Amino acid sequence: MPDHSPQDRLTGTLLDHRYRIQRRLATGGTASVYVGLDERLDRHVALKIIHPHFADDPKFVERAQREAKAAARLHHPNVVAVLDQGQTSDGVVYLVLEYVDGPTLRHVIARESPMTARRTLDLLIPVLRGLAQAHRSGMVHRDIKPENVLLTTGGDVKVADFGLMRAVDEHTSTSTILGTVAYAAPELVGHEPVDQRCDVYAVGIMTYEMLTGSRPYTAPHCRWRTRTSAGTSPRRVALPPVFRTAWTSSCCAVPPATRTLDPPTPQPSWIWPSPFIGRCRP
Ligand SMILES: Nc1ncnc2c1ncn2[C@@H]1O[C@H](COP(=O)(O)OP(=O)(O)O)[C@@H](O)[C@H]1O
Ligand SMILES: [Mg+2]
Repeated sequence: MPDHSPQDRLTGTLLDHRYRIQRRLATGGTASVYVGLDERLDRHVALKIIHPHFADDPKFVERAQREAKAAARLHHPNVVAVLDQGQTSDGVVYLVLEYVDGPTLRHVIARESPMTARRTLDLLIPVLRGLAQAHRSGMVHRDIKPENVLLTTGGDVKVADFGLMRAVDEHTSTSTILGTVAYAAPELVGHEPVDQRCDVYAVGIMTYEMLTGSRPYTAPHCRWRTRTSAGTSPRRVALPPVFRTAWTSSCCAVPPATRTLDPPTPQPSWIWPSPFIGRCRP
């Protein structure tokens, strides 16, 4: 949630003798995000400061730190880099991330959707590149949503927040409390086995939203679960042919078994003809 309050007690302070907290950008379910200055390297960073009620739980902190270490191993131009993490002597738990200076995909969707296929693919291809790299190294994001796709003012696209959500899920025993339900695959909510297909599902929902300005499923999330075995299919709207069959019915399929396993490898031929056919499972 964007944060318009002018100040808070952390603004202006020096975190761990190194990071000057400059301005609060947003407050999310687990953390507040600030733009800060790394005074050692003299560069801007994003500082994610975990809410005290999470930071007070040693198990949560241990898990979050483990996940941040895993995320820090991921190096890709389309993934927001994890630069550092720590806990101050007075118990503030923080993550230092590459600072991305532009809007989120949420803002772009609000401004531009319904988008053309060309524009959609320009935004989507970098997301898929970043995700494919993560999936290759065995990571699953589990919280892909437009708020976690960040743009630089130069137009680069980066996926944020690999890692932390898993610690949150274990901590709260449900992913629905903190995640955004619209993009959460049914198996995430249902405590069923989860693999990279939950990210594919979320990308499918985002793509549909970029192209149409709406989401394919209108029923509240908890209600689809009861409809899963009946093979719920996305609401039909006029999509560009490139996306129609393969993208929406394979990526957004409710039962994971009918969903494609890997984000398709980006190809220059994506605009036309349909690139996904043949890549997706029947
Ligand atoms: N690395 C970053 N650089 C710039 N802004 C960021 C960064 N990470 C997060 N943000 C901003 O902070 C907001 C909240 O982030 P976060 O706490 O991850 O919550 P959520 O992902 O649920 O929106 C994001 O939507 C984005 O606007
Ligand atoms: Mg986020």
